[in-house]
Amino acid sequence: MLESIKYKIKSLLPKRLLYFYHLSTARRAADYDLRRRVYDKVYNDGAAEKVKRDLTLLYHIVEKGLTMPIPRPGFGKKAVIDLCNVVLRYERMNLSQDQMEFVQSVTVLKEYNKLHKEIGFQLDDDVIERLNRVVNRFDNVKGLEQIDISEMEYFKNVNAPFDVFCRSRFSVRNYTNKEIPLEVLYDCIDLAQKSPSFCNRQPTRVYIVKSAATKQAILDVQNGNRGFGHLAETLIVLSSVISTTKDIHERFENHLNGGMFAMTLLNALHFNKIAACSLNWSVSSDKDLIMRKLLNIPENEVVLLVISCGYPPENFKMAASPRKKANEITTIS
Ligand SMILES: Cc1cc2nc3c(=O)[nH]c(=O)nc-3n(C[C@H](O)[C@H](O)[C@H](O)COP(=O)(O)O)c2cc1C
Repeated sequence: MLESIKYKIKSLLPKRLLYFYHLSTARRAADYDLRRRVYDKVYNDGAAEKVKRDLTLLYHIVEKGLTMPIPRPGFGKKAVIDLCNVVLRYERMNLSQDQMEFVQSVTVLKEYNKLHKEIGFQLDDDVIERLNRVVNRFDNVKGLEQIDISEMEYFKNVNAPFDVFCRSRFSVRNYTNKEIPLEVLYDCIDLAQKSPSFCNRQPTRVYIVKSAATKQAILDVQNGNRGFGHLAETLIVLSSVISTTKDIHERFENHLNGGMFAMTLLNALHFNKIAACSLNWSVSSDKDLIMRKLLNIPENEVVLLVISCGYPPENFKMAASPRKKANEITTIS
């Protein structure tokens, strides 16, 4: 009864009034999160967390460069110098040198140094000076080197028990132009649909992109695919229907549900021996609008993620991307 009265009143109100009412509620709710984020940026002097974040962002650029289909000699000069500087800053801060971020940064810099020595490429003096400081200083720091693997070896565990299967998936940034049949992609999407969703509302939508021109136009506005994106035989774009959420407090559900869907999809692609890599869609509104236009994505959907995929070549490289241990990220109370 009360519900139907409410509904009646709502339907009598001018849409514009409703719009501004909901906008102000939404602003208040969003403000709660935004303030925490801005506060963290300005006031949180968690220097240790932030220096580890910077190490990870930078070593990831270099590890990706090391595993590109065709590594460009001298690649990533700025990232390498910045990474050396952050490693040295980390040391000056007297932080533990057992931490994964530090160990992996030093390891990646050593690999970069070794690769250029092996191919006889003369790096610029300023790079050599920084690299030598790190390489000589942390001689006994050893993390995981990037992985050189055959297609057979990479997919050998696709039918293994879950723990082995799960550990065998990596982001692969190298693809052949062999066509992925649509039926196979539909099978993967059907498996991804088994992901849990809020009240089973199943908000995620999938766009399969095969057209070369559309793929390129999307990759042009995505900032993490240089050196390999152009090889993707298929791009999968995930979006989520905003109208599946009821009120503003459900505002994270699109991304949360989409994240769960994306993980199952990545596993399903792996199970079907398709190499894949997530590509972030943390873009400015002008780029988001380009994507919407390219794929005709309706206003009531939010774009979440792009996944590049294809069958891999016979041999390829992939980033080791080590993980922190459970006890490092878990709190018990
Ligand atoms: C939300 C998200 C966005 C990502 N964006 C990119 C990207 O733009 N470019 C890229 O090369 N890798 C991207 N990745 C892949 C990560 O770098 C990769 O998952 C991470 O390093 C762990 O490695 P693994 O997938 O091999 O286990 C992204 C991953 C996620 C989950």
